[in-house]
Formats: sequence, structure tokens, C-alpha cells
Amino acid sequence: MTVPTARFIFHEGRIVPFDEARVQVLSVGMAYATTVFEGLRAYWNEAVGQLYVFRLEDHARRLLQSMKLLRLEHDLTDEIIQQAVLALLRANELREDAHIRQLVYGEGIGPITTAGPVGMTVAAMPSYRLFDVESGIACATSSWRRIGDDALPPRIKCTANYQNARHAMLQAKLDGYGGALLLNGQGKVTEGPTMCVFLVRDGKIITPSLTSGVLESITRSTVIELLSVKHGVEVEERPVDRTEFYVADEAFFCGTACEVLPIVSLDRYPIGNGKPGPLTRTIQKAYNEVVRGMTSDDGQWRTPVYKSGQKRPR
Ligand SMILES: Cc1ncc(COP(=O)(O)O)c(C=O)c1O
Repeated sequence: MTVPTARFIFHEGRIVPFDEARVQVLSVGMAYATTVFEGLRAYWNEAVGQLYVFRLEDHARRLLQSMKLLRLEHDLTDEIIQQAVLALLRANELREDAHIRQLVYGEGIGPITTAGPVGMTVAAMPSYRLFDVESGIACATSSWRRIGDDALPPRIKCTANYQNARHAMLQAKLDGYGGALLLNGQGKVTEGPTMCVFLVRDGKIITPSLTSGVLESITRSTVIELLSVKHGVEVEERPVDRTEFYVADEAFFCGTACEVLPIVSLDRYPIGNGKPGPLTRTIQKAYNEVVRGMTSDDGQWRTPVYKSGQKRPR
């Protein structure tokens, strides 16, 4: 698929026309994947004429943690990171749902140990859908194991990690599935390629623990909080077996990109009745309401982009 672009991009401190963002092809960011990134979303609320970035502060915090783990030398602050996103959305005058991608990369040429200087690029483009959140997807357990904390840090977003997710997803697609579930080195469930996973069994909601080899996902924490605060249901965070999915009543992936995505089968075992389940639908609705500001709850998670609600100019 072709991802939509926008007029402007934030590149190394300046907002420039989209095609003018350039990096040195031999930089360590390119050559050794010395790059970390964030994927965010902004949601347009037509009723109040406002665009909200979802959990901007948390994404900025995770980006800084990713830089720390890669030992990148930089002078980027929380404030600079957040303001770059907001300035870019305003420059593009986006008044619709948007995907945001924020990258920090080693821009110099050097050996693999090169720690700086770094550049930051932010792109914000109209939203696109990669998955059908209405029907859900059929998944396969991947023969590729998820990277472990003894090889590359799974809890952060460094681009090198994503070849692992790519292998799993491409293989699943070639084999006729819509998605994949990756196990860790101990054979326990971790997550899907770029999405965390939950299952529902006998009224209990379960998700692999943060020490299972999963990304410290912002949507995962949102879902856990929505379930506990809004529905009084505590999520069990623990090691999960693959066969628990075969006997589960419901399962779903979650992530900034896929939002809440039902899993309807794993390895051709139908999950529940093979259709998205009621709790999955409840979470989808609650998530949509919170990201768009259709509820006044959880306002701390939404950063408004425009000063006051402004209708789209006609
Ligand atoms: C490897 C991986 N797991 C899980 C997720 C979901 O994380 P989040 O909810 O922060 O988008 C992502 C998405 O960015 C990811 O890249």
C-alpha cells in the first residue's frame, strides 16, 4: 500500500516541504539501524473541532528511554520532542485523523559504536488503515521467535527490532494468514508484529507480562486502565501459553496503529465462536471514545493541537 504523505515534514529542527528531508545514506542510522522511533496518532473530533494527540507525553518519554538504551548522545528534551509533533500538525493544518512517526537517528558516518550526533524527523500524515478492525484477523503462531532481552531490547522501539516483526508478518501472509503471534525463547506468548495481545477466558482477561519480551506498549497500558477503571476488571499480567488462545473465548491485539483488533482464530483454531467477542467490542468502543475525546474522562491523555476548537475551513 502507498502511505499518504503531507505538505510538510519536521526535519532536524525545521519544518520543510515533505520531499526536502534528506539524510546521509552512509549515516549510522542507515548503515547500522542506529535509529529509534515512535508511532503516534492524532484523532479529529468533529463535534468540538479539535485534533487530539493521544498520549503525547508518554510517547515522548518512551522515545527518550529508547535513546538511553541505545546510548545515543543528544540534547533533545521532552519539551522539544512534544513541540515538534504539535508544530508539524499545525503547519500541515491537519483537521482529520493522523498518523505520526517520530524518528531519531545517528546522522554521522562512523563505526557501529557511534553515539552522536543525532537528527530528529517527524512526519504527520492523514490516517490510513492497515487492518479490518470490524472482522478481525486469522493468525498463525510464527516459527520466528520474538527477540529476547538478552539480544536486543524488546521493551523499546529501536528500528533493528522490526526485522524480527517483519519476518513473522511476511511469513504469516505468505502462508495465508492475516497476522502472526510470536513466542519468546521460552515458548511463551509475547505479542504480534507491532501489537500487544490480550485473551479472555472464563471472564478473566490476560496479557503477557512486561517481562515476557513485549514492547512497553502505550495502548496495552490504556486498555488495562480502561478495563480496571471503567469496568472494574483487573487484567492478569503473566506468562501466557499458546494453547490458552486455542481455548479462549476472545482475543484481540492492540497498538497505536491497529487500535483494538479482534483475533478470530489462531493456527486455524477458532477463538470463541470465530467472531469478534463482546468484550473486544466493548474495549473497541471505549478506546475510540477516549482517543477522540468523546468522553470527558482521561483528558490528561489527550493533547489538543489547536488553541480552541476550530471547524475545518470550507
Ligand atoms: C513491537 C511493538 N509491539 C507493540 C506495539 C504497540 O505499542 P503502542 O501501543 O505503544 O503503539 C508496537 C507499536 O508501536 C510495536 O512496535
